[in-house]
Amino acid sequence: MEEKLYIFDTTLRDGEQVPGCQLNTVEKIEVARALEELGVDIIEAGFPISSPGDFNSIVEISKAVTRPIICGLTRAVQKDIDVAADALKFAKHKRIHTGIGTSFYHINYKLKSNPEEIIERAIAAVKYAKRYVEDVEFYAEDAGRTENEYLARVIEAVIGAGATVCNIPDTTGYCTPYEYGEKIKFLRENVKNIDKAILSTHCHNDLGMATANTVAGIINGARQVEVTLNGIGERAGNTALEEVVMAIKSHKDIPVYTDINTKNIFKTSRLVSTLMRMPIQPNKAIVGRNAFAHSSGIHQDGVLKNRESYEIIDPQDVGINESAIVLTARSGRAALNHHLQRLGFNLTPDELDDAYNKFLLLADRKKDINDDDLYVIVGVGKAEQKRKIKLKYLNVVCGKSAIPMATVQLIIDGEVCTATASGAGPINAGFNAVCQLVQKKLTLEEFLVQAVTRGSDDVGKVHIQVENKGNIYYGFSANTDIVTASVEALIDAISKIN
Ligand code: KIV
Ligand code: ZN
Repeated sequence: MEEKLYIFDTTLRDGEQVPGCQLNTVEKIEVARALEELGVDIIEAGFPISSPGDFNSIVEISKAVTRPIICGLTRAVQKDIDVAADALKFAKHKRIHTGIGTSFYHINYKLKSNPEEIIERAIAAVKYAKRYVEDVEFYAEDAGRTENEYLARVIEAVIGAGATVCNIPDTTGYCTPYEYGEKIKFLRENVKNIDKAILSTHCHNDLGMATANTVAGIINGARQVEVTLNGIGERAGNTALEEVVMAIKSHKDIPVYTDINTKNIFKTSRLVSTLMRMPIQPNKAIVGRNAFAHSSGIHQDGVLKNRESYEIIDPQDVGINESAIVLTARSGRAALNHHLQRLGFNLTPDELDDAYNKFLLLADRKKDINDDDLYVIVGVGKAEQKRKIKLKYLNVVCGKSAIPMATVQLIIDGEVCTATASGAGPINAGFNAVCQLVQKKLTLEEFLVQAVTRGSDDVGKVHIQVENKGNIYYGFSANTDIVTASVEALIDAISKIN
């Protein structure tokens, strides 16, 4: 039988401690509402004694969010607990999270105390918090580096004092998954009253093992996990909510379930990233830009035949519409055809070959190819074939103190002809050379250059209007080289003159 795994989200407390990620009350409420919609069980809304702003945010979140338990952090200090209880006064479901350091480093250096006194202080803090709320969670700070026998004594004592949840933080991200899993197992096997409380994981990512440690904790009996969206948090961050939730969903052998509405993961992740001004690394598991993007030809072909060839999670399960078949210079015809069909182009094999060659030329110059580029590749290709005049060669000279010059070779009715001209700039020089060759009197009525998307490696689209003998002719072309695109657009317009 699967047991419930409680999701304790600390994005607004441990996550918000990150320099530069601070949110105002309105933003915190927005995140808290999104967390409620996501289905988290507990929202750690802040550290009430730390600042009036934090205190006020907890008050307002308690009013705005009613389903999850709202939790406030304290030290094992009466004043902290009084303030937390006050901040939580409007919460429908409330929890006080109190605790103290239990490792050698914390007891000796930070707290300048001794192990017995720490146990007394822990018991006193839990009992004091119990005066205000039924639901009291105790954290043994730096439990990751605390000797298991001593930790077991602390946990047994605080459960005896009324703690409902015992948090075992790997505060410094030191543990390996095996070590952390064994720690949870040890507590389950050696704390006599362990059945009266839930064990919680709280892992930091200093060695990149926060998710692995959390999963090891669950496998060994933890039934609450403390996590943040996108894994934000002190130093290298906390365990990422999305990673643990999807690891559980993907591994049916882990006998727990969560109430997370996984389809909300992506949008909540983006909300947190935007409000906290904390970009998500592209290769971040589950929510990174590339998490469901396939770019090599072999992978693309495999995914197009069956998504599961290279994907263990359906992107729709986390709220991403579909896997991305990213078009780069490494992509094959299958991927190009897939995108062209999606855009409504059904090409013959020869047309696809032609489009693919153009695509490769463009992809070598531009890192990734988007839909606008595809329209350009297919549209321009078709137009070029119909043209009576074709551009064979173009060379321009330009730059500071240089006289702009262009040499153009055109194929007109099968014959190659060449001209060189100067101009006000390279495009004007190119236009003058073309005009010499076609021997037509043209007036440039309009000339528009646009970037298809953004970036200096982008394709430039050129629209042109020329007048000849009272008639207007339109030309269009696109190229990463805007001088070439401009000359091609002029030729396109001239080709339409009878
Ligand atoms: O990492 C940690 O030990 C903490 C506690 C305060 C719960 O964040
Ligand atoms: Zn922490």
